[in-house]
Amino acid sequence: MNAAAPIGIFDSGYGGLTVFKAISDRLPAYSYIYLGDNARSPYGDHSFDTIYKYTLECVEWLFAQGCELVILACNTASAKALRTIQQKDLPKKYLNRRVLGVIRPTAEVIGNFTRTNKVGVMGTRGTINSQSYLLEIKKFFPHIKVFQQSCPMWVPLIENNEHLLPGADFFIQVYCEQLLLQSGDIDCVLLACTHYPLLMPKLKHAFPDYIKILSQGEIVADSLSDYLERHPELENRLSKGGEKQFYTSGDPKTFDEHASIFFGAVLRSKSM
Ligand code: DGL
Repeated sequence: MNAAAPIGIFDSGYGGLTVFKAISDRLPAYSYIYLGDNARSPYGDHSFDTIYKYTLECVEWLFAQGCELVILACNTASAKALRTIQQKDLPKKYLNRRVLGVIRPTAEVIGNFTRTNKVGVMGTRGTINSQSYLLEIKKFFPHIKVFQQSCPMWVPLIENNEHLLPGADFFIQVYCEQLLLQSGDIDCVLLACTHYPLLMPKLKHAFPDYIKILSQGEIVADSLSDYLERHPELENRLSKGGEKQFYTSGDPKTFDEHASIFFGAVLRSKSM
């Protein structure tokens, strides 16, 4: 076994920490390296080429740290970069390494949370415009109708820690209303951005009680657990020291100040 083969977890910034928290709670024995590309976030409005380039650079950096498996804990990167990395870069340069995203595991189970078969998906412009959720959900639940809403102001509000202030209410309300105007029968809203769970207290007020608001952390953690059981050849190579390391492309001091609200614990990061 490679003594230094942690699982890499990547996000454009802080949001992936909500997924990392769920993964490390569910699978505490493994070692992990988290990388936030804070210097270049948010990714949501960047072009396909830029998101692919940034994501690949970060994945390759995690590979260079010994990661055999990297989770893109970012919907935008999963929507725009994952397929090219899986189909082009891994076969060419990294035959034995794996990169997984957050969209497919979510699409696989979303049908369990709706009775009306009308689901709302809220995400960044990049995720929504990619149509990835429409396509993926259709594969598993062709009878479900998906209504999409991009929420371009939410990541900047959250990254700047302004999201729980009264001034944020307008932008929270407006996207929720726009989604519900598309259909009055939506009974499940997916937070298809790993930053959005931080808005949960405000979203619970913004949506009627009968709407289930779904975040991805536990879904992705369950799916990863299942994946590792099905891939013992990869699982055997992963180091199991229970360590967690945090890296940022931005300023570690700033990262540490913000990161705890996403991760639910104080942490100390280093420059990548
Ligand atoms: N957490 C990322 C996601 O899940 C945020 C994207 C961004 O940087 O705009 O989409």
